[in-house]
Amino acid sequence: MSELTIYTQPSDIMSRLHFSIQSLHKNVERNPYNQAILAHNLPMGLYVGQLAAYLCIYRSLENACNNSEHPVLARVWQADMAKLPLLQADLDCFTLEMPRSLVQTATIAFVHYIDAIANHPYQLLGALYVFEGSTLGMRELLPHLQNTFSLEYQGVSFYAGYGEMNRVRWDGFKRRMNLSITDEIAQEACIATAQQTFNLIDNLLLALWHSQ
Ligand code: HEM
Repeated sequence: MSELTIYTQPSDIMSRLHFSIQSLHKNVERNPYNQAILAHNLPMGLYVGQLAAYLCIYRSLENACNNSEHPVLARVWQADMAKLPLLQADLDCFTLEMPRSLVQTATIAFVHYIDAIANHPYQLLGALYVFEGSTLGMRELLPHLQNTFSLEYQGVSFYAGYGEMNRVRWDGFKRRMNLSITDEIAQEACIATAQQTFNLIDNLLLALWHSQ
């Protein structure tokens, strides 16, 4: 009797997210801004510009997570996931130049997007997934930034994320997401937002790169 293998689509949200952002993740890896970090030739002004743009975006994202009264947010979001204090502390180490209009436009578009999904918990979690997952990639970029700017921790604490706990924290986030987003329609909303969030990040990093 021949064996019949049935391939099924993964149904847990974190597997679905993982597969549906693969080509978008490749795009951000190839983005000239991230390539410059890896090549140790990112101008410091652009790095500080990224922190400043992220400060606006994370303020909007984390306010929405803190203020949401939806139980699904309460299950996934934890106050100690906040990265705003790290961004603020890093920014305090540098002098910020006025961002170019290209960067301002990309940042404002991003903030408007987050504000528009603030009351849609499954979409908000799609955006949160992208930023939480980026702690894994930023950890890879961290030694390059430390080397380029001769910094240890102060000034790059946002990129350091949870430090040695990154993987443990990621596993916890995955577990909470998988337990909380099981409904097909909710999953679709979450995935579409994660994809759009990747596009917005790619645009922002390109705007930063072209602003020099
Ligand atoms: C050159 C830049 C980057 C590198 C080298 C990189 C690298 C990585 C690595 C090594 C992982 C872990 C894969 C695993 O073991 O499961 C990862 C995961 C992830 N990264 Fe990046 N990353 C980069 C940029 C970014 C950016 C800019 C974002 C978004 C802001 C991002 C979002 C994510 C997400 C969401 C995941 C989790 C994927 C999943 O669902 O498993 N990454 N990245």
